[in-house]
Amino acid sequence: MKKRIGILTGGGDVQSLNTVIAGAKNKAKIEQVELVGIIKGWEGALNSNYIDLSKLSIDPQIGGTIIKSSRANISKVKNWPQVILNNLHKNNITGLIVIGGEDTLSNAFLIQPFPQILISKTIDNDVGKIEDNGKEFRLDNITNYFTLGFPTAAAKISSFVSLKEGLRTTAYSHERIIVVESMGMSAGWLALSSGMGFPDFIIIPEFPLNYDLLLDKLIKRYESQKHIIIVVAEGAKWSNGSYIYAEEDEIEDFDHPRFGGSSEALKIRLKKDLAKYFNTRNINSVNPSYLYRSGSPNDLDRHWATRLGEIAVKYLSEGINKSKFLSIQKDNKGFRVKDIPLSNFRSINELHRFVDERFYDPQEFQLTAQGREYLRNIVKEIPLEKEYGLSNISMS
Ligand code: F6P
Repeated sequence: MKKRIGILTGGGDVQSLNTVIAGAKNKAKIEQVELVGIIKGWEGALNSNYIDLSKLSIDPQIGGTIIKSSRANISKVKNWPQVILNNLHKNNITGLIVIGGEDTLSNAFLIQPFPQILISKTIDNDVGKIEDNGKEFRLDNITNYFTLGFPTAAAKISSFVSLKEGLRTTAYSHERIIVVESMGMSAGWLALSSGMGFPDFIIIPEFPLNYDLLLDKLIKRYESQKHIIIVVAEGAKWSNGSYIYAEEDEIEDFDHPRFGGSSEALKIRLKKDLAKYFNTRNINSVNPSYLYRSGSPNDLDRHWATRLGEIAVKYLSEGINKSKFLSIQKDNKGFRVKDIPLSNFRSINELHRFVDERFYDPQEFQLTAQGREYLRNIVKEIPLEKEYGLSNISMS
């Protein structure tokens, strides 16, 4: 009997999900195994909602996920591991490819020893580990250098804030202060990556905002430059630890508040505090929101999404006795995939990563040289041109 492999996608969608599924589907054809899509992540595994992927045409360039996604926290359902295992057995599924962020991947630990391959995807880039904290910094010591989706989202945010492709030209022309919001929940990776498009200030959740310092720097910069781009993470906090903005009563299944609004909240406060210096009409906020997760995957994302999909099917068609996490590692030749037994971790929380303190300078609200070195392998820089500094043109 042909092996049957299930594949599911959970959590926020990213541009390269269909790419992983397409990579898996092609490999399944070569290996002569069946690939079954599980609709809406773990929810579909719970309800036996499956689809034969050989019947679907999947375009790896189209973002999102053809098999849909959900944020269902099935660990809240009574006996859920048993229900899911029974369903998988009943449907002759012999292995599972689980694609998701930390919440989705966490469920995989609870249906062990069922054979699973875990693939991380999230524009938040918060699944992985940076070793040697406080010691020697080495890029080849990073477990899971990036999560799928992050390269495309990071390229988008740096483009949005840049001079050549983004908001800096209108900021310059109208002498605006523009506050741009990033996604990322409580992790600041996406906001940090905007540094590749050279905004003036970046505010991330890992470092509660020293507002007076920001105001001071901003006033000085505005005096000489006459326009400012600030990037604020959706999960950024005031110095007292409270979120700049979050809907605390819109908590979802995994207990995360609904973010979205920090740029507007910061804009309102800046308007008030800067009113004594100038007409604040041109202090604006922009929240690209789901645009960070939309569109086609970029080359880096597409390449590794395809590879991970293929490798996952290869392992499960050969048969594995231990579930594995597929980590993207860097060495001096570039990126490669390393598989790590799930038994190396107690739970996926051990792979929850916040922005490394060596990557961000809270005094300057900026990416450090090491942060830039890390990001350079994922996102291209969009430099500022000299002309942008036409700061104080005045008629004589
Ligand atoms: O986790 C990915 C993410 O895009 C976060 O950055 C964001 O806060 C969240 O998803 C939005 O969630 P939803 O898709 O439920 O609106």
